[in-house]
Amino acid sequence: MRGVDRRTMMTGVGAAAAASLAAGAEGFVQVPGGRVWWRRTGSGRGAPLLLLHGGPGAGHDYLLPLKVLADERPVIFYDQLGCGRSDAPQEAGVYTIERAVQELIAVRKALGLERICLFGNSWGAMLAIEYMVTTGGPGVQKLVLSGALASTPQAVAGMNRLLDALPDGAGARIRALDAAGKGATAEYQELVQLFYDRHLCRRKPPPAEYIRTGENLAKSPAYKWMNGPNEFTITGVIKDWERRRDLRRIKVPTFITTGQYDEVTLDCHQTIQEEIRGSDLTIFGDCSHLTMLEKPAEYARAVREFIR
Ligand code: PHE
Repeated sequence: MRGVDRRTMMTGVGAAAAASLAAGAEGFVQVPGGRVWWRRTGSGRGAPLLLLHGGPGAGHDYLLPLKVLADERPVIFYDQLGCGRSDAPQEAGVYTIERAVQELIAVRKALGLERICLFGNSWGAMLAIEYMVTTGGPGVQKLVLSGALASTPQAVAGMNRLLDALPDGAGARIRALDAAGKGATAEYQELVQLFYDRHLCRRKPPPAEYIRTGENLAKSPAYKWMNGPNEFTITGVIKDWERRRDLRRIKVPTFITTGQYDEVTLDCHQTIQEEIRGSDLTIFGDCSHLTMLEKPAEYARAVREFIR
């Protein structure tokens, strides 16, 4: 390894073997639809922690506060297809939930991740649930579901309640502008920001990772085709996703986290907690959806304790 550029080494054939030798490494994995970028940091004996970002299309950036867990185990980030450093084909048909599951399978296989702790935030939690119920999650030892939902209709109902509770009739105004096809106006964008400041990330000023996440989402075909134009207008392929009845098939120890003001409302998390036997739910005060950016140290500590 000495003297060899790691980045070059980790791309292409032999990546898995090389990755298992190096504590820190990065590269690309071929998955259905294109190549996705990954990075592994840290070593240690704990089961590797594999992180699934949300959006879809948000990229790994906002999960970086969880890097501190790399002192006890490898931590693996990857940008899902359609964002960040990964390929981003534009065609709508590429972006399906099934393909995302196949991508996760391909990433695990290429990196030799036989046993893992699996973390998913938001869409990443949806993907983790979908993966667990459709594949059984071989080798998954612990599961963390953050800002999580098992049903898009349930989450959309919650978001509608949050819209209704915005000050000065902002929710009604958002709906009126939407109905008039005025989603691109400055007024609409300001109202979206009002919702995000309350329910997506409450930290002021927003950290750099949050800005990067917004930039990722704005240009991601995955966000456009799978989610929709913004967080509360879900028009993409995930809009009818429903796994509430399948949750009981998840049998691994599960930790569910949410923020007091999370855009994914508390009932969504409570449903998961009721259905996954023995799971725990923690609500972080003064936080919303991106708790790992709002209270990074406290959040990482809670995840650390659970996966330890
Ligand atoms: N867009 C959310 C995310 O950041 C996922 C989501 C979809 C949340 C549908 C609620 C309803 O991943």
